[in-house]
Amino acid sequence: MPYTSYAGLSDADVGALYAYFMQDVAPVDVAPPKTALPFPFSVRGSMAIWNMLFLKDQRFQPDPTRSTQMNRGAYLVESLEHCGACHTPRNSLMAEKQGAALSGGSLGSWYAPNVTSDRIGGIGGWTDEELYQYLRTGHVAGKAQAAGPMAEAVQNSLQYLTDEDTKAMVAYLKHSPSVATPGVDRPRYAYGNASTTEVSLRGTNSADKGWEIFSGSCAACHQENGTGTENRAYPSLFHNSTTGSERPDNLIATILFGLSRTVDGKTTYMPGFGSQASFTERLSDEDISAVSNYVLAQYGNPSIKVTAADVATIRQGGPAPLLANLTPAVLIALVALVVVIVGIGLWMVMRRRHDAVSAGVRAG
Ligand code: HEC
Ligand code: HEC
Repeated sequence: MPYTSYAGLSDADVGALYAYFMQDVAPVDVAPPKTALPFPFSVRGSMAIWNMLFLKDQRFQPDPTRSTQMNRGAYLVESLEHCGACHTPRNSLMAEKQGAALSGGSLGSWYAPNVTSDRIGGIGGWTDEELYQYLRTGHVAGKAQAAGPMAEAVQNSLQYLTDEDTKAMVAYLKHSPSVATPGVDRPRYAYGNASTTEVSLRGTNSADKGWEIFSGSCAACHQENGTGTENRAYPSLFHNSTTGSERPDNLIATILFGLSRTVDGKTTYMPGFGSQASFTERLSDEDISAVSNYVLAQYGNPSIKVTAADVATIRQGGPAPLLANLTPAVLIALVALVVVIVGIGLWMVMRRRHDAVSAGVRAG
């Protein structure tokens, strides 16, 4: 629940949301499932400490030096559309990192890339039209397609925004503070070319497992040279931000879980290969690492290599955040430490008050 972003909402917008929920949403009598969190996350009061440390309880403040459009874009990106809830990296206590807004965050199996105005690491090299089209439809030929959580954002929210609002977000994104991605010297959409290896290996005794899987499971849609289909319904695998990324998370996740996005009533669909339940044959962690490495070498960023262990991690929901990895003993010690610090703080405040009162009594 991105309430840290919603804290910036205007009173008028919160009022409108309230009216909508109370008057337009049909009431349904359902008891929500019980939350089962391990200690100390099960202690509701621990959120008060977290909020004290990280919640900026302040309405969005328009910047008078910026245009109305830029301020509207900033309001949408920072508060109402909470883009940073996914795209901003988090610290070890899971709060959005200050000064790194929109520079890329891990969401478990998926990775929300750097979308700052940086020309290499971010979206600075996209045209305004391309960014507009991506936010409206989730698809820009030669740049990127939206899968996973971004497909949800486009399907459930972004496609319904007004033209002015989408344009305001584009204007803001193109001028947002630029943050470079360490180690990246080429935009992720600028990798790769058509490759005919698939065709040349046909009928040979190639022992390349990645090629074999690509040929059988991917080439039918993405074509044997990776160019996709002419009408762009099946996208090219080169000049594709997922295969040119410095992180293989989204490539692995797309192969495992597939992609589904309904925009303007039309569904774009790629089957997932990770589940027994899908109609496609289930691919093992080794199979998916082999086909990922084939795709990366032929069409994407060839310096990125995927192991079967990487695939297993993404299959299970991604690397666990540091907090979730700490043993209960360490967590209890941390909570105790925070309680002691807060206690000392309170004691000092009380003492100061007490001293002030005694001084007042003496003076009186
Ligand atoms: C629920 C999480 C989530 C939210 C909210 C979200 N994004 Fe994303 N975004 C992602 C993920 C994950 C990807 C990668 C998708 C893929 O490649 O299939 C992505 C991809 C993108 C891309 C494409 C970048 C590239 O190089 O491929 C842009 C641009 C983008 N998001 C902008 C935004 C903006 C602007 C907002 C707010 C209006 C937003 N996103 C909100 C998760 C999110
Ligand atoms: C039945 C057709 C079909 C098959 C088979 C298929 N794909 Fe896709 N693929 C698609 C469609 C459709 C899209 C999304 C197009 C869009 O979003 O506009 C897509 C998107 C992708 C993307 C971009 C995803 C993103 O998040 O940016 C990658 C990478 C990809 N496919 C790789 C593969 C690989 C590797 C295989 C084989 C293991 C494969 N595909 C098999 C139809 C297919």
